[in-house]
Amino acid sequence: MTAAYEQLAAEGYLVTSIGRTSRIASPLATPSARSTPPSGCGQTAPVLSEFARRLMGIGMPALPHAAPVRFDFLYGAVAARDFPRLAWRRAYQAELMRQQASLYYAPPEGDESLRHALQGYLRRARGLICKAEQIVVVHGSQQAIDLCARLLLDAGDAFVFEDPGYLIARRCFEATGAECLAVPVDSEGLDTAELPERNVRLAYVTPSHQFPLGGILPIGRRLALLQWAQRHGAWIIEDDYDGEFRYGQRPIDALQSVDPDGRVIYIGTFSKALSPQLRLGYLVLPPELVPIFRQAKRLNDRHAPVLEQRALAALIEGGIYERHIRRMRRENERRRAALLDAIAHHLPKEAHVSGAAAGLHIVLWLPSMTSRDEAALVASARSSGVGIYPVTPLFADLQSRTSPWAAGFILGYASLTVEQIQQGILALASVIAQTGPR
Ligand SMILES: Cc1ncc(COP(=O)(O)O)c(C=O)c1O
Repeated sequence: MTAAYEQLAAEGYLVTSIGRTSRIASPLATPSARSTPPSGCGQTAPVLSEFARRLMGIGMPALPHAAPVRFDFLYGAVAARDFPRLAWRRAYQAELMRQQASLYYAPPEGDESLRHALQGYLRRARGLICKAEQIVVVHGSQQAIDLCARLLLDAGDAFVFEDPGYLIARRCFEATGAECLAVPVDSEGLDTAELPERNVRLAYVTPSHQFPLGGILPIGRRLALLQWAQRHGAWIIEDDYDGEFRYGQRPIDALQSVDPDGRVIYIGTFSKALSPQLRLGYLVLPPELVPIFRQAKRLNDRHAPVLEQRALAALIEGGIYERHIRRMRRENERRRAALLDAIAHHLPKEAHVSGAAAGLHIVLWLPSMTSRDEAALVASARSSGVGIYPVTPLFADLQSRTSPWAAGFILGYASLTVEQIQQGILALASVIAQTGPR
């Protein structure tokens, strides 16, 4: 009973004083007891910021988390069995045991051990020369892109974007209110002859393996892009999301490595080589941008998780990470070969593929179908247990196109076994035989 009185007094419902009887506090607010959370249904629209209103106005792709299918060529997924579980557990546990007595926030730019390890790794693997101080560790490329958008663009500015391109990056830039200048992409990546000669704040590019079409930007275009950026005072955001996975040849060095003026902001990620669920990536920044990115990262979420960063640093320093990448390159080369072989053997002759020289996905084109048929084929493939993904939503400016183009589908293969790939393409072949070209 005393405990109940004490609780009521602590919450302000009762006023107590020594030598007097307790009384009910007045005026006592009497909120009606609620057994369910507020629904918000039928209420007036919430008052939101301009940013939020812009976000509501731009369509977002649905998350592909519908019911699982047997053969899911889901781009962005990697096989859980490929994760270096044992090495990760050892490295993580060792860092856990080394933890200090007092746990406080760490620096926003990321753990020093990881930034140093990355500096060496990027030099060896991507030909990229930088100081560890230029690196900021972030929650995957997505946070890097979001920070670039918010720190480099204002409403009314213009940015260059590959068409087709990585939609979730374009949405970040558009959410600032800046104007998207879509520049077409061909089999060699961004068509630099089409770059607009006007004031542009930044260009977002995927030069090592254009997303989604897979072109690898040749040196002539790289230099043209850098000269264009110099003429217009634009930043270049180089998203090197799967640059480690080049087949048959050594991976081409990063665009940043031939940039003489410090205009390139390089973005790397661990989502392809390890796991997209780690949410770890990094920026390599021109020195003058470092302070503001550190400050923004701190305001955003303080810093990336420290134990994971240190475990990763140990894997890189110990040579385990690069061994893992070599193994994953061989593994994905087998998957890719099986996919190309199955397509050549089982799909109609007209089917062709782009972007197979690198990365973890291809684009499959079916020229006798049009972009208008993509959704129907995706749906019938799904009902036969095959997940494929249409390329059309990745094009900018869909409204301005009058005639449809060849149907294209993104097929990721990094999460499947060779057998699943073969069976998946066989199943897709019979769906196409029923609904598509002969
Ligand atoms: C073009 C591109 N950039 C970056 C990423 C990786 O993003 P994150 O590092 O946020 O997982 C992907 C993943 O699919 C991608 O396609």
